Amino acid sequence: MNAKILALQSATPAAADELSAWFPDAKSALYWGGPEIRVPLQRDQLVSLIEEAGTLSFAALRDERLVGFCQLRGFDPEGRTIRAARIAVAPAERGRGTGGAMVALLCREAFARFDVDRVELFVVADNLPAIRCYSRIGFVNLGLQERHLPGPDGEYPLYKMALSRDALNLAIADGVC
Ligand SMILES: CC(C)(COP(=O)(O)OP(=O)(O)OC[C@H]1O[C@@H](n2cnc3c(N)ncnc32)[C@H](O)[C@@H]1OP(=O)(O)O)[C@@H](O)C(=O)NCCC(=O)NCCS
Repeated sequence: MNAKILALQSATPAAADELSAWFPDAKSALYWGGPEIRVPLQRDQLVSLIEEAGTLSFAALRDERLVGFCQLRGFDPEGRTIRAARIAVAPAERGRGTGGAMVALLCREAFARFDVDRVELFVVADNLPAIRCYSRIGFVNLGLQERHLPGPDGEYPLYKMALSRDALNLAIADGVC
């Protein structure tokens, strides 16, 4: 899978209808959306999330079809970081490199638009597809966080991961994304 055949553009509320079908249960919705998500997902919540102030929402398109969604939020000018968040690939498209290509494009946007040294993210510790996807493009695991994600069947431990500009450039130069 190649980043060149994916395009990121600003997401509109129209993405909410498709997004709501991508998460079959409360746990998968929380793994995707984090602690602010209310389950079951409703269209109005997804529209608010797409239009949230201080957040850039992106739709990933292939052949003009929505295949992914992701956000940049929490710009910290002092810490020179920003967070990649709400990363998802349409279920039928997973496991073929789309996530890695999309997150690489998202991080390129972050480094182009914001004066940051690192893009950071939080991921539930047993979300192996996500961790593998992020690691492949150069994210480093910074370890378990004190804060857990509360869920319907307990608390989920979270890893923080970070990607530097140099690591992303290396992954691009190596043809990984
Ligand atoms: C996380 C997600 C965006 C990844 O998208 P994707 O298109 O599948 O990503 P990629 O194909 O680029 O990479 C997936 C990696 O996970 C691996 N993988 C897939 N299923 C796996 C599984 N069950 N266990 C372990 N690894 C798995 C793939 O082999 C690949 O790793 P590799 O490149 O080392 O071979 C997608 O799985 C998703 O939308 N998940 C639901 C929402 C979510 O959990 N988002 C993360 C929020 S932090």
